[in-house]
Amino acid sequence: TYIIAEPCVDVLDRACVEECPVDCIYEGGRMLYIQPDECVDCGACEPVCPVEAIFYEDDVPDEWEPYVSANVDFFVDLGSPGGASKVGKTEFDPDFIKTLPPMGE
Ligand code: F3S
Ligand code: F3S
Repeated sequence: TYIIAEPCVDVLDRACVEECPVDCIYEGGRMLYIQPDECVDCGACEPVCPVEAIFYEDDVPDEWEPYVSANVDFFVDLGSPGGASKVGKTEFDPDFIKTLPPMGE
């Protein structure tokens, strides 16, 4: 799967959402998250993110390793809805993201 990491926080550009053929990029309160069971590893989202927040799971920089589990934890309650557009924006973020200082410019 692909992972969205810290550069997305408070930026939420959403260019990635337009590219995803399976609509598996879901919106939280402060960033977006890729549903790991729904992502088909097409990689189309990765080059379009203007802040380079998206990585293949094996290529996530060490400092952002916690985002691998964040992209899993985001879906603990949501499960696998099979499409982000019908879910829409949520206000949820895993705790460590919720408490980050304001990010982005
Ligand atoms: Fe975030 Fe980049 Fe998508 S900022 S919403 S991962 S295009
Ligand atoms: Fe979608 Fe990106 Fe996965 S475009 S299928 S989330 S690699």
